[in-house]
Amino acid sequence: MKKLNIGLIGYGFMGRTHSNAYRQVSQFFDLEYQPVMKAVCGRTEDRVKAFADNWGWQSYETDWRKLIERDDIDAVDITTPNNSHCEIAKAAAEKGKMVLCEKPLALNPEQGEEMVKIVEDKGLANMVWYNYRFVPAVTLAKNLIDDDKLGKIFHYRANFLQDWTISPDLPQGGEGLWRLDAEAAGSGVTGDLLAHCIDTAIWLNGPITTVTAMTETFIKERKHNLTGEVQKVNIDDACAFLARFANGSLAIFESTRYARGHKALYTFEINGENASISWDLHDLQRLSYFDYRDESATRGWRSIHVTDSDHPYMDKWWVPGLNIGYEHTFIHGIAGFLKSLEEGQKPMHPSFRDALQTQYICDAVLKSGVSKQWEEVSGV
Ligand SMILES: NC(=O)c1ccc[n+]([C@@H]2O[C@H](COP(=O)([O-])OP(=O)(O)OC[C@H]3O[C@@H](n4cnc5c(N)ncnc54)[C@H](O)[C@@H]3O)[C@@H](O)[C@H]2O)c1
Repeated sequence: MKKLNIGLIGYGFMGRTHSNAYRQVSQFFDLEYQPVMKAVCGRTEDRVKAFADNWGWQSYETDWRKLIERDDIDAVDITTPNNSHCEIAKAAAEKGKMVLCEKPLALNPEQGEEMVKIVEDKGLANMVWYNYRFVPAVTLAKNLIDDDKLGKIFHYRANFLQDWTISPDLPQGGEGLWRLDAEAAGSGVTGDLLAHCIDTAIWLNGPITTVTAMTETFIKERKHNLTGEVQKVNIDDACAFLARFANGSLAIFESTRYARGHKALYTFEINGENASISWDLHDLQRLSYFDYRDESATRGWRSIHVTDSDHPYMDKWWVPGLNIGYEHTFIHGIAGFLKSLEEGQKPMHPSFRDALQTQYICDAVLKSGVSKQWEEVSGV
C-alpha cells in the first residue's frame, strides 16, 4: 500500500469531520493509497496538541507555514475560515503539495482563478469538499439523471434554511462566529449555504448561465468579537435567487439563517418530462422519486431507502436497511480523492476548477442582489 502523508490545517468542525474520514477510509475502502495522519496545525498549542492526541495525528504545528515547508507532507488539507483558503492553498501548491480545500473555494472569483491556475500549472491533485455530492441518495439522483430517467428537465428548486442568527445579541467575528463577519467569510448564506446547493445543482443539471437575486441583512449592526466595537454587518443574512440553466431549465434557490425551526434544512427537487426527484438532508438516506411512466393505478411518489448494496457507496458499509450519515460523506470524499491518485484514474471532482464555477455563480448572485438586475455568470 502506498502512503499519502496528510497535513491538516484547522481543527474546528471540519477538522473533526476530516480527521474522522482519514481514520476510517482505509478500513472500508480498498485503495492503493492509505492516508497517514502526519501533522495537524492550529494556532493554540495546548488545544492543537489535545486535538492531535484525540484523533491520532502523529505531530502538530502552530504555524501553517511550517507545516507546508515539511518534506514529510504530501497533501495539505485546508479547514480554516474562508479568508485563509487562497493564501494557504497557493503557498502549499508552490511547495508542490497536493491541496484539498474546504468550500467555498475562496472569497471571490479572482482568488479562485489564482488557486485554479497554480494547481493546474503545477499538475497537482486537488479537490474541494462539496461533500453533499457524496451522500448515496444524491449520487443516486445523479445516476438517474445521467441515465436519462427524468427526460428533459424543466425545474430545479433548492433551499438551505437555518435559524441560528436571529438574536440581535449574537456578536460577529472570531471563533465560532466568523461566518457573520464578511472579512472572514466573504459573504453570508450565499457562500456558506447556497454554495452547497449550487455545487449540487450544476453537478446534477449542468451550468447556470444567468441569475437574479434578492438579498437582505436583517440585523444591520452587531458587536464584533475581535474589536469589541459595534460594527456594520456586511454579510447577506438571507438570499433568494432565480436562475436559468444552459439546458433551458429554470431554478429557484433560497437560503436564510432566519427560518425559525430549521437547523439545516437542505432540500432539492427536480422536475423532468418523465420523472421527478426530491431529497432532504434531514432524511438523507431517502430519495423520493416519481415516474409518470409507472402503471397509472399505482403511480405515486416512491420513497427509496438508499441502503442496498447496489446503491452508490453502500456496498462498503453495513447490510441493506441500515443507515449511514453525515460523517460518511467526508469518508466518501477522501476515498474518491485517494482513488483518483491511482494510475489510470480520472481526476477528482469537485476539483478547484469545478468549485470556481460555483464561485462565479455566487459572485453573480451577490452582484444581482445589489444591482437588482439579471446578471450573467462568468466562465460558462
Ligand atoms: N463541507 C461542509 O459541509 C462544511 C461545513 C462547515 C464548514 N465548512 C467550511 O470549512 C471551513 C472551516 O469551517 P469550520 O466550521 O470548521 O470552522 P471552525 O471555526 O469550526 O474551525 C476553523 C478552524 O480554523 C482554525 N484557524 C483559523 N485561522 C487559522 C490559522 N491562521 N492557522 C491555523 N488554524 C486556523 C481555527 O482555530 C479553527 O480550528 C470553512 O471554509 C467553511 O466554509 C464546510
